[in-house]
Amino acid sequence: MGMVCAILLLCSMVIAMPIVRGIDESPQAVAKWFEDLPQMKEKVTKLHFYFHEQVSGKNPTAVKVAYTNTTFQSPTFFGLVVVIDDALTVGPEPNSTIIGRAQGMYESADLVDPVAEMSLSFVFTTGAYNGSTLSLLGRNAVLHTYREMPIVGGSGVFRLARGIATAKTYWFNATTGDAIVEYNVVVLHY
Ligand SMILES: *[C@@H]1O[C@H](CO)[C@@H](O)[C@H](O)[C@H]1NC(C)=O
Ligand SMILES: *[C@@H]1O[C@H](CO)[C@@H](O)[C@H](O)[C@H]1NC(C)=O
Ligand SMILES: *[C@@H]1O[C@H](CO)[C@@H](O)[C@H](O)[C@H]1NC(C)=O
Ligand SMILES: *[C@@H]1O[C@H](CO)[C@@H](O)[C@H](O)[C@H]1NC(C)=O
Repeated sequence: MGMVCAILLLCSMVIAMPIVRGIDESPQAVAKWFEDLPQMKEKVTKLHFYFHEQVSGKNPTAVKVAYTNTTFQSPTFFGLVVVIDDALTVGPEPNSTIIGRAQGMYESADLVDPVAEMSLSFVFTTGAYNGSTLSLLGRNAVLHTYREMPIVGGSGVFRLARGIATAKTYWFNATTGDAIVEYNVVVLHY
């Protein structure tokens, strides 16, 4: 982009195209990005944020959408499906600055251990990552101190990302199910 914008004329052409948050998301630009891939260098980006799961109250960000007739007799709520749109913040405080959302779902998919099988997007809404996403797909054994889950892809600045998300519970209310979870994410991308 820097080189393109060095030429004023081209730069104004680029601006006229459907650029979203600094990244041209047109199919032509995506195709060009792949053509340029052999010249691009992979880099490591580390992210740190807190994930706020609000189950209780008037405005929950996590809702049960499906279960079966044995779910609530199961020690692990086996079969429960939850859809989330949880806030991601800089710090652990509930009023900390929001930098994105975790949007997707998880299922209780282990008969013995409490496990959330997660499939979601981290959708960033500020700064250089605004509009970019990371896709997480993995097993969250919620009682473990550290839960390592694969980052399997991304969009925007995170095109072709892969990496690891490490979750650690910061705070949990067993009565309501509300939780604050610390995430460290390390990704390789271009
Ligand atoms: C759950 O539903 C199935 C199918 O309707 C039924 O056969 C089964 O007896 C039910 N189990 C319980 C624990 O209610
Ligand atoms: C966040 O909440 C704390 C108390 O929990 C308060 O001291 C602080 O001023 C609040 N910050 C903002 C930006 O509202
Ligand atoms: C993020 O991008 C959206 C849509 O392009 C824009 O409306 C918003 O102002 C941006 N937010 C920040 C904090 O840059
Ligand atoms: C958990 O939530 C319940 C119900 O709102 C509340 O009474 C209790 O104080 C909370 N516990 C903690 C540790 O925050």
